[in-house]
Parts: sequence; C-alpha cells; structure tokens
Amino acid sequence: MNPISKTIANVIPIFPKKFVRIFANKYIAGDKLSDGVSKVQELNRNKMIATMDVLGESINDKKEAIQSKDESIEVLDAIAKHKLNSSLSVKLTMLGLQLDYDFCLSLFTEIAQYAKELNNFVRIDMEDSSVTDSTLQIYRDIRKQFDNVGIVIQAYLRRSEKDVIKLTDMNADFRLCKGIYIEPEAIAFKKRKEIRENFLKLIRIVLEKKSYCGIATHDDYVIDGSKNIITELGLKRKDYEFQMLLGVRENLRDKIVAEGHKMKIYVPFGERWYEYSIRRFKENPNIAGQVLKALVTRN
Ligand code: FDA
Repeated sequence: MNPISKTIANVIPIFPKKFVRIFANKYIAGDKLSDGVSKVQELNRNKMIATMDVLGESINDKKEAIQSKDESIEVLDAIAKHKLNSSLSVKLTMLGLQLDYDFCLSLFTEIAQYAKELNNFVRIDMEDSSVTDSTLQIYRDIRKQFDNVGIVIQAYLRRSEKDVIKLTDMNADFRLCKGIYIEPEAIAFKKRKEIRENFLKLIRIVLEKKSYCGIATHDDYVIDGSKNIITELGLKRKDYEFQMLLGVRENLRDKIVAEGHKMKIYVPFGERWYEYSIRRFKENPNIAGQVLKALVTRN
C-alpha cells in the first residue's frame, strides 16, 4: 500500500462528510432509489446490465431487518416500473441472519418470491467468514423453492473449492470474487498469487460444469485468464458475465464491453453511503488515493 493512501485512509474518518462525499460520488449512485434508477438507465444505455444494492450496515433488531426487506421489495418494483436491465443484490445480515436463521430465511423468501413474480433475480452477497456456513445454508434452503437466486464465493477462502464443487452439483448461479474481508491465514490465502490462481481454478470448475459464472474482478490477470478459459471451452455470451463495481476501472470495463462480453455493474445507493464509504476505505486503503485525486482535480 502506498504511504499517501495509508495516511489518507487513517484520517478519512475525521474528514467532514462533505469531503468524503467527493470520493463517494464516483462509487455510489446517490442517496435515493431514484439516483440508483438513473445510474442503471445510464449503464443500460451503454450496453451494460446492473445489480442494485441498498447500502446498509449490520442491523440490531428484527424491525430493522423488516425495513431492509421492504427496501429490497421497493427496488424490485422500481426495476420493473422503469424496465431496467438490473437484478438485486442483498446482504443476509441486513435481513437478520445473525439474529434468527428462520426469520432471515422467511424475509429472504419473500424477496425471492417477489423477484420471481417480476421475472427478476436476486444474488446473495457473501460477507465475512463468521456467516459463510449460514449464508450457504440459506442458499441451499431457498433453492428448494426458487431458481432465481445466486450465490457469491470468495477465492481467498481455502474452503471455496469444496463449496464450489458441491454447489455446481445443484447448478448454482455463481458470482466469484476475491473476497473483501480481512480473514485469518488459517482459513484464507493471503498471497496475491495464491488468490489469483485459486480464483482462476474456481472459474474453470464452474465453467467446465456448465454453471453460470459471474466473474467479479478488476484484476487484469484474472480477466485475461478467464478470457482464455472462455475461449478454450468455446463458451457463448450467455454462459458467463464479467462484473465490476460502479466507478472502478471504467476504461477496462468499456474495453471488455466493446469486445462483446456481458458486463454487470454493481450499483450501490442509499442514505447510509457514508458508513459504506468509510468501511470501504478501511478494507482497501488504496482507494484513499482516489480522494486525493478528487480533491486535487476538482474545480
Ligand atoms: P484487486 O483488488 O487486485 O484490484 C485490481 C485493481 O482494480 C486494483 O489495482 C485497483 O486499481 C482496482 N480496484 C479494485 N477495487 C477497487 C475499488 N473498490 N476502488 C478503486 N479501485 C479498485 N467481496 C465479497 O467479499 N463479497 C461479495 O459479495 C462481493 N461482491 C462483489 C461484487 C462485485 C460486482 C465486485 C466487482 C466485487 C465484489 N466483492 C465482493 C469485492 C471483491 O471481493 C474484491 O474485494 C474487489 O473486487 C477487489 O478485488 P479485484 O479482484 O478487483 O482485485
């Protein structure tokens, strides 16, 4: 990590919200659902699809979980109303996963059911390793009823190869990513090379088993390796997609789109953008360099 980014990351939490917002604008569609809708419309016009995410931090009670479920339902309504090419991503801890498993499953079932009625799709984001097992269990339980749901697997976890093999047996719909949380070495690969190699290994397993694969990365090495696997296996556009976060490596993103690959953009929005931004800074302090750039280049 470069020293400037590290210093900025440490002081960001004491910056006035206004400054953090300068950075956040690039990575977050806005405070409101209508901001998310406008951003997705723009992406759709530029030949990209999207997945919308209502920003939020962990919740404390069931009332907040229900509110979070209602927000997801509103997003699904907005997608249908505006005829957006977008799915929905959700975090199960926001639906009470750490409070009560059955309660969380019932809220998520409502979302999956509603999405099904609207012919849409919901992906369960993967959070830190304290909830990997319960998140996978919810996925297995929901798949008994619905097929319009997908899961995320993190390439940095040593267990992921086994998880992927089991999940391909049920023809799961995957998003594969490196993983963003800080995990102990006992359960997670730490070296960049190991994570990249495991990522490509998982992509190969998923694609060879003909499960749908969302390849979520901004890393040239993984993107180039994936393209080689796609060519080698003779896959069609419908078999996989690349995925990126809003505002990250847009030139690379546009190049991948121009080459004819499907590209899905993760579009976060919501009033809790500040907490989300601070969390992202702490998880990936290199992003902090972007703030400096934004401050310097702004009129
Ligand atoms: P890497 O971190 O090496 O990034 C490659 C390059 O991309 C960097 O050098 C930098 O230039 C740029 N870059 C990457 N991330 C950036 C950022 N945030 N801001 C600015 N520049 C950035 N994780 C998880 O644990 N659970 C999940 O459910 C998801 N979901 C998810 C969805 C989508 C669509 C994406 C793209 C990513 C996730 N992630 C995630 C996050 C993922 O695990 C990972 O932390 C990031 O994608 C960064 O890893 P890369 O593979 O991009 O490589």
